[in-house]
Amino acid sequence: MSRRKIVAGNWKMNLDLTEAAEWLAEVESRLRNPACDVMLFPSFILLADLMDMYEGDVLLFGAQNCSHLESGALTGEVSAMQLASVGVDSVIIGHSERREYFGETNPIVLQKIQQAIKHELMPVFCCGEPLAVRNEGKQKEFVKLQLEESIFQLPAVALSEIIVAYEPVWAIGTGLNATPEQAQEMHAFIRSLIAAKYSDDAATQLPILYGGSCNPTNAKSLFACPDVDGGLIGGASLKVNDFLSIIDAAR
Ligand code: 13P
Repeated sequence: MSRRKIVAGNWKMNLDLTEAAEWLAEVESRLRNPACDVMLFPSFILLADLMDMYEGDVLLFGAQNCSHLESGALTGEVSAMQLASVGVDSVIIGHSERREYFGETNPIVLQKIQQAIKHELMPVFCCGEPLAVRNEGKQKEFVKLQLEESIFQLPAVALSEIIVAYEPVWAIGTGLNATPEQAQEMHAFIRSLIAAKYSDDAATQLPILYGGSCNPTNAKSLFACPDVDGGLIGGASLKVNDFLSIIDAAR
């Protein structure tokens, strides 16, 4: 089975409303019939406005995070229910920046995924090892534990509702992308774990995106790997030309 590819832009904490609106207008006018699905993850504060402005039918919109709880006294948090109520399609969960700077643990990540699924948001579950772990050659054990303590707690039916993003921490924002061989090896490993835990079908259907210094120069060789189903793009998604080139590389 060939999986449809996905290119997703994670803007992180970048762009104000004016810049975001300009980006959107340009992408709307230039992006026609892409060969892959295209997702955009702006900051919470921009989401509803951008979704209102967008008149195309290509982009899917997602948030970069959601609360682990349903509702209540959690100042500054945004719930999956609130995201769903404004029509958001998806949410990134467990990004390494959330894990590192906001103390998100695997069990919290699991709660967030459960919230997302409950409210019919497609979670983009992020995993990936830090540099020290890679240097020790322990990246597979590390990623396996991230999976075991989060998505492996989900029932089989939920597997068809998630996207996995492998983002080695040492590749994020460093200009040092994983080589296609490194990405393929980890993606195939993740898929084999899904097959062993759930089923061959679940493993075959699961989209696994690569993230970490993906750019117009390296995207094609990364996306050509059999188990790399597209990319989660940070810095390069902020520049329309680069983002469109990366989308083109997903043919
Ligand atoms: P960069 O593409 O800037 O390395 O970021 C990757 C990322 O963290 C996407 O979620």
